[in-house]
Amino acid sequence: MARVMIIGGDLPVDLTARLQVEHEVGYGTHADLRTGRHAGIASAEAMILIGQPAIDDEVLAKAPRLTVIALRAVGYDKVDLEACARRGVTVCNTPGVLSRAVADLTVMLVLGAVRNLRGAIDHVSDGWSRGAAKPALGADLRGKTIGLVGMGGIAREVAHSCAEGFGMQIAYTSRSGPVEDIDYPGPGWLPLTELLASSDIVSLHLPHTPDTDRLIGQAELSAMRPGSFLVNTSRGALVDESALVDALAQGQLAGAALDVLAQEPPDPNHPLLHLDNVLITPHIGSATAETRRSMAELAVQNVLQVLAGQTPATPVGPAPPTSTGAPDPTP
Ligand code: GLV
Ligand code: GLV
Repeated sequence: MARVMIIGGDLPVDLTARLQVEHEVGYGTHADLRTGRHAGIASAEAMILIGQPAIDDEVLAKAPRLTVIALRAVGYDKVDLEACARRGVTVCNTPGVLSRAVADLTVMLVLGAVRNLRGAIDHVSDGWSRGAAKPALGADLRGKTIGLVGMGGIAREVAHSCAEGFGMQIAYTSRSGPVEDIDYPGPGWLPLTELLASSDIVSLHLPHTPDTDRLIGQAELSAMRPGSFLVNTSRGALVDESALVDALAQGQLAGAALDVLAQEPPDPNHPLLHLDNVLITPHIGSATAETRRSMAELAVQNVLQVLAGQTPATPVGPAPPTSTGAPDPTP
């Protein structure tokens, strides 16, 4: 019997029950990770993280018995993997199962940007008939080029929808070069600068790492077509937000649609919240009932596997040996 802490939210009851067959389940908040005053965390052997709390050595030191952290998320940029490895903590994420939902939201934001959904919503809330002119005309998607930065599972789904559903041209970058089975109408694989110059809509699909931090800065935004759109459903930190504000305010970009910001929730005065050509959703890429359930199932499966001394289904990076399950005695 191990203690499994669910941090920052809850799981469907039947999944909690699956954990409780052999283990004891407790609950904590993101803040509890920092204070170290929570007895459940001090004695936890497993944690399931809901949301995106930062995990660093200081947090790990407060949970010396920990052997596994299961993220109910695909992104693990807030987790210090090196510190986890040093302390023998296996980290698992939930790749794949959320790709379709995030792709759906991406398509929604592409449509929302190009059809000026923000302007339409503002127009209606301003009284519709009392408002003067209708919002500016949008554009057709058919024949437009979407440039996908990254070609992982989510970008593949976006490419499929945009090409097959909307008759769009597909351009993409991928760190490993052209991907053999990606073959849609359009430019296909391009280096980033060429992709930026060739796309009507640029959509970001990379994890946040030191290499991708502020990947889209002033130079990249200037390289984008005048009147084009930026869509981001990956991580806010991929974009230099003050450069984006300038590009939007100066009309270099026609608009942006963002599900993620560098800081979430943002400061209420964040200029991106106050530009009328920006559509923002509150980090809801995977937020469907079916997908969140699949993510929770995978997180629970990963925890049960590690606690049973097995290799988990979806570890992040190489899994440390799980056979002993013993915490590092000398942190
Ligand atoms: C959400 O952002 C995730 O990483 O799953
Ligand atoms: C990430 O794992 C993805 O599904 O794109």
